[in-house]
Formats: sequence, C-alpha cells, structure tokens
Amino acid sequence: MNQPPNRRILLIDDTPSIHEDFRKILMPDEASTEALDEMESALFGDAAKPQAQAFELHCAYGGEEGLGLLTSAMAQQRPYALAFVDMRMPQGWDGAKTIEELWKVAPDLQVVVCTAYSDYSWDDLLFRLHAHDRLLILKKPFDNIEVQQMANTLANKWDMARRASLQTSQLERLVEERTQALQLEIEERKHLESQLVQSEKLASLGQLAAGVAHEINNPVGFISSNLSTLDGYFKQLQQMLDAYQRSEAHIAEPEHRDPLTALRNELDLDFLKEDIPILIRESKDGIGRVVQIVKDLKNFSRVDNDQTWQFANLQQGIDSTLNIVASELKYKADVIKHYAPLPEIECLASQLNQVVMNLVINAAQAMGPERGTITISNGVEGEHVWLEVADNGCGIAPDTVQKIFDPFFTTKPVGEGTGLGLSLSYGIVKKHRGDISVSSELGKGTKFRVVLPIRQTAA
Ligand SMILES: Nc1ncnc2c1ncn2[C@@H]1O[C@H](COP(=O)(O)OP(=O)(O)OP(=O)(O)O)[C@@H](O)[C@H]1O
Ligand SMILES: [Mg+2]
Repeated sequence: MNQPPNRRILLIDDTPSIHEDFRKILMPDEASTEALDEMESALFGDAAKPQAQAFELHCAYGGEEGLGLLTSAMAQQRPYALAFVDMRMPQGWDGAKTIEELWKVAPDLQVVVCTAYSDYSWDDLLFRLHAHDRLLILKKPFDNIEVQQMANTLANKWDMARRASLQTSQLERLVEERTQALQLEIEERKHLESQLVQSEKLASLGQLAAGVAHEINNPVGFISSNLSTLDGYFKQLQQMLDAYQRSEAHIAEPEHRDPLTALRNELDLDFLKEDIPILIRESKDGIGRVVQIVKDLKNFSRVDNDQTWQFANLQQGIDSTLNIVASELKYKADVIKHYAPLPEIECLASQLNQVVMNLVINAAQAMGPERGTITISNGVEGEHVWLEVADNGCGIAPDTVQKIFDPFFTTKPVGEGTGLGLSLSYGIVKKHRGDISVSSELGKGTKFRVVLPIRQTAA
C-alpha cells in the first residue's frame, strides 16, 4: 500500500510548442522551480507549502500514439495518473474519441481536456463520455500555475482513489476470509452434531440390543438344552425301534405281523430314523448361531464385563488376528503393514482383536474379482495410539456411510453378513474410550481409523 505517489502524466496534443510549454511547466529546471516555489510561498505561506515533487511527462502528437504510450505503461504496471488531451486534433482521433479509448484501457485515468474552442458543446461531451467526475476542462490560453495545480491536485486524487480501492479490496479479502472461516466452522459443527446423533443412536440401540439379548438368552438356553436331551432320547427310542423291528420278523401270526409291516412302510420309518438326527443336528447348529449372535449383541452393548484389562501389544494382536483370517484373505488381497513402534496399551486384548478381524474381513469382502491390497498402519499420537485399515475395494456410497455402524446393517447377501461386525467394533472401541471413523470413496476404497488411549486410568 505504501507505493510512492504517481507523478506520471501523459500529454496528447498535435502542436509541438504545447509539448514544450508543458515540459517547462511540469518539469522545470532548478532555477524556475525556485521561482515557482517563491510564488507558492507568497500565495499559501511557508507552512502550507507542499513538498515539490517532480512530474514525469510523456508526450504524444495524436490519440493513437497516446493510446500506445498508455497501453505499454499499463503493461509495465506504471500507469499514468492523468492525461492532458487536446480537443481539436485534425489528423486522426479527436479529443473525445481519444479520451474514450484511453478510458477503455485505464478507467481511473484523470483527464484534462485542453481547448480554445470546441466542436462539441460541453454538455454533449460530458454526456458522451459519461464522466463528470474524471474530466476537467482547461481553456487555452492557459496559465502556468493553473496547469501545475491541476497536475498536483489530480495526481493526488488518482493516488487517493487507488488507495481507497486497495483498501476496499483488502477489506473484501478479509470479509471473504472470515466468511470461509465461518463456513468451515459451520461444517465442523454440523459434523460434530451428526456424530453426536450417531453415538446417541448407537447408545440407545445398544440398550435395546442388551434387552433383546437378555430376553433371547433364556429361551435359547432351554431350547439348546432340550435339543441335547431330545437327541439322547431319540437315540434310546431308536434302539427300542430297532429291537421291535428285529422282533417283527419273528411274529408268527400274519394278522399281527402284516399291519406292523404295512404301517412301517407307510410311515417310511427308515427315512425318519435317518432324518430326525439330521434335523436335530441342524437345529443345534442354528441355535449355536443364535447363541453367537446374542453373545455379539451383548458384547456390542457392553453388558459383559468379565474380561480383564491388561497392558498388551497391539501389533502382536493384529498379527495373530491376521493369522486367523489368513485363509479368508489368501485369494482376495495382499496385506501391507506399516508399523511404527508402539507402546503397550491398556485394553481388553481379545476384544481389540475382534475389531481388527472385523475390519480386515470387511476389507477383504470389499474386493471385486481383482486381487486387492489391504494396508494396515499404526502409530502413536500423544497419549493415543492409532490403527488404520485401508483397502482399495468397492468403497461405500455417501448415503450408506452413516448406517454402517448400525447393528444388522449389511449390504451382503443373506448368510454372508449379519451386519454386526462394525457395530460390535464400535462398541468395543467406545468401551476403550477410543474412537472409530471411516473415510471412503465409492469405487476407490475405504479407510477405517481407530484411535485408542494408551492408558485407561490417569497415571
Ligand atoms: N471395507 C469396506 N468396504 C466397503 N464396504 C464396507 C467395508 N466395511 C464395511 N462395509 C459396509 O458396511 C456394512 C456393515 O459392515 P459390518 O461389518 O457391520 O457387517 P457385514 O460385514 O455386512 O456383516 P458381518 O460383519 O456381521 O459379517 C457392510 O455390509 C458393507 O456394506
Ligand atoms: Mg463385517
């Protein structure tokens, strides 16, 4: 902002002697400067005497030439503060046309029209140029001090206008910056709000899940134990049936033996004996799965607190988990590890393993027919360690992302996913007073980040 004042002046006049006159007035030698200074002191007094600053005068003989000077001055970023333009120039552009062209290149150029007479009425000229505030009129023959004062005043006016416009644009920039900062803040708040809603929703879902799990536990318990008993009873019944069947052949009277044989064939007893144990076994499998889901649900809702907190090595946990799921990954993805040295962290180690397992299996399941890459990284940040599981799989659509931590939310075919993996993981991470977040791009891949405190209790 602290540029030196602009003292550059352009003169456009077809009369060479006028160029000489202006040079004498605006760029006088030392002696005449003093003479002028004395005159000024006499007029305005010593105190008010302005600092005499030399002008830099450039002259042209016609409008086109003047425009050329102005254009190259603008290109060099050395604009003129004002131009004196002769009104009547018989060759080429006249004054009005010249001024029009000058303003196209430098709209803030101050202009003085010099003339003895005019081809326009002044009203017409001002109207044509739309410029009542940038145009002064200097009638020939002119007075030296008149010219000099016009130059001084208009050069200052040009400077002030420039400063004002710089200030305005600086102000606009500040407003713009502040607006952006506010917008960021608003977005940040919206994000926090949605996180809050999400965690409240999950907390209430957790309570619900705990209740449901509790209710289911009981019947599941007796169904499971009844099935075992039933299995045993049926084996005994089968022994009895086999014994009866063996005796059947030894019944002498056909009227007793034949109905038994007929009934046995009608009921297809052989098939029943084969199928009932299968049905019982399948039911036991099914109930076993329900038990697992209930256990997961309880885990998710953090009702089971029977595990002990201990300091454990997270990387060891990750590695042993990777071993367990190795067969799942083998044909789907390569695993790349970026491990940084980690301190042991206070945790429920087996539960954290479960988190890692869910994330890694999800990553593997996100791969298409092509073999993908799963990158596991970790590190320390202050009082926390972080773990990231990134994949280059299918990614998650933006409107799906907020649902993935919901229990039972799955996009996988029936039988492949129960939709509990992430909700469980969320519960486990929260139990560790940690945080789990996701960033994903559809078609590109997904990255889960888990942050965990190193210690659960203040040291
Ligand atoms: N790495 C990932 N890439 C793409 N989608 C993912 C990824 N991880 C999770 N998802 C999406 O989030 C959903 C929920 O995941 P979550 O692990 O909770 O359940 P699931 O994998 O479907 O079933 P489960 O884990 O119980 O077998 C998935 O069905 C899938 O749509
Ligand atoms: Mg899963």
